[in-house]
Amino acid sequence: MLLPFRRPSLQELMVQGPHLLAPTASDLDCNGRLGAVLAGYHYDLNLITVHGRSRFPGLYVWLRDGRRVAVRIPPGCLLMQAGKQLEWLTGGYIMAGMHEVVVTEATLAAVEAARGAGHSTWRISSTVFTHCASDAVLRPLGRFAEQPGSAEAYPAIKAGDQVQRELEAICLRKVTASPAAAGAGQVVRPPSPVANKTEPGAASTSGLSGTANNTPIGGVTGGLNNGSSCATGVAISAVR
Ligand SMILES: [Fe+2]
Repeated sequence: MLLPFRRPSLQELMVQGPHLLAPTASDLDCNGRLGAVLAGYHYDLNLITVHGRSRFPGLYVWLRDGRRVAVRIPPGCLLMQAGKQLEWLTGGYIMAGMHEVVVTEATLAAVEAARGAGHSTWRISSTVFTHCASDAVLRPLGRFAEQPGSAEAYPAIKAGDQVQRELEAICLRKVTASPAAAGAGQVVRPPSPVANKTEPGAASTSGLSGTANNTPIGGVTGGLNNGSSCATGVAISAVR
């Protein structure tokens, strides 16, 4: 899918953004119990999250119709997952994708296979969290600005303030009442596609910059068609 706005482009909004290359690791010798939650149900607060392919399954995403779907990333591909900032820019047309990582039968089978082959049983998730620059303004762009109610649901806010509010919502930052942090006195709760339930510690935050596997981050290139809308918040992109 090509986003129908050119200026500012996603690339322009991302210049000097606090992108974060953040691999996470789970020791499945310790945590490999059926049903163990490795990452609780949540959405990401950033622009686009780029997932590499893990050697151990367990990642699930939710479609707009409420279905929970196991993610399978083909070899040579990356998973592009929409975060809250992309939801903001599209006025909710593309919603931040709800997801979790859970130990399943398939995970345990992969652990056994790894053990048998003498390989590591650590689940490594190589993830890049791309962000809009902190002083970039988030608002519905292009034709998304013309959608009824989009400006009210997604009022203009600096990306840095949006991140701070998300962190406040999950108690990773103290709530502040200062006008600057509250957007000129206006209190805006981050809109949520399903529920504003986010596990503490599961939020993606900002910091370093980087790219996954030296692969350029080009934006959303496709979607899982889900009936009336293809905007489910996740897409598979081939690695060039
Ligand atoms: Fe996440």
